[in-house]
Amino acid sequence: MQFSKIESSYTSKDGCRLVWKGVEEDDLETIILNKKELEQLIDLLKGDSAGEVELEDQVSRIMVNLDVTEFNLKDHDLLEVKTADLQKHVLDYAKIPHIPQYIHINPKEYYPSITIRKYDEPKKVDETKPTQISLLEAILASKSKKTSHDLSQSDLYRIFATRRSTRKFTKTRIEGWMVDKILAAADTAPTAGNFQGFKVFYIKNQKVKEALVEAANNQPYVNAPVVLVFCMDPSRVKMNFPPEILEKFSIQDATLAAGFSLLAASGLGLSSIWIGMINEEKVKSILGTDLKPSSILCIGYPEKRRPPKPRRNLKELIQVVE
Ligand SMILES: Cc1cc2nc3c(=O)[nH]c(=O)nc-3n(C[C@H](O)[C@H](O)[C@H](O)COP(=O)(O)O)c2cc1C
Repeated sequence: MQFSKIESSYTSKDGCRLVWKGVEEDDLETIILNKKELEQLIDLLKGDSAGEVELEDQVSRIMVNLDVTEFNLKDHDLLEVKTADLQKHVLDYAKIPHIPQYIHINPKEYYPSITIRKYDEPKKVDETKPTQISLLEAILASKSKKTSHDLSQSDLYRIFATRRSTRKFTKTRIEGWMVDKILAAADTAPTAGNFQGFKVFYIKNQKVKEALVEAANNQPYVNAPVVLVFCMDPSRVKMNFPPEILEKFSIQDATLAAGFSLLAASGLGLSSIWIGMINEEKVKSILGTDLKPSSILCIGYPEKRRPPKPRRNLKELIQVVE
């Protein structure tokens, strides 16, 4: 693994993400430092001094030596970087203020504050010890005792067979862990070149929801308990193709991700309505973004559970090419 870059955190203007790259395009390791950890690292690097930064889990450590800095992480391979390289990257990074990046969770991230025992732990691992896994894995694997509607693999066809759009939701609040799962599902969708050419706006603000109703041709159900706006982000798709192809990829990325979230919501016993009738310019201006929205996914508990709508005969849908 080769140290690659430092970038801002997804959730806060403080702290940072340190990224190592392997040989494969998608072989990345990321370490997330919080504000205090980053400040301690900056102090050591500024002073050209050797020393140690203890990470939030109180086990993992960054050992700054004069030649090489070692990242000794609990339950994780050792990561190294030449101290001079790290010094340059980190001190340059510290010179300018940063804004949080939008949330994208790479499955191979080391996040010292999240310690959740993995499902299906291999036998050799001490079952009594917590194991470090990524936030995405943790969210996807987590089970809640609070509902009988947990998504499990065997339920996928049940979801296909029973899903029905809803335009009338109860006012029941959707718990945070459910929203996490719905967002994490979006992050598991395939994307062109794995560049994840999309962004999700999770709308919590009531006034923004009301403005989106208007931007969606006054469809009142857009004011739902959970409102997610899926936007295209072709600038993320770093492929050597004409802009119109990158645009096409990003609309597919955003659409597929929304589809994954829609199914995840159904798996959790929630229902949704997909909103495609939107005024793009109005939505962009409401969200304060240049990214084009592709759809709005409105989610909640249905007032009434209804059977799925009929479809055409499956044979009519398929043209077999032999
Ligand atoms: C691309 C697309 C755009 C849609 N736009 C809207 C919309 O703007 N408003 C709405 O009420 N429903 C919208 N829908 C929901 C469809 O009307 C709904 O999925 C369809 O009637 C089939 O019903 P079902 O989802 O229960 O199977 C849209 C669905 C898709 C896939």
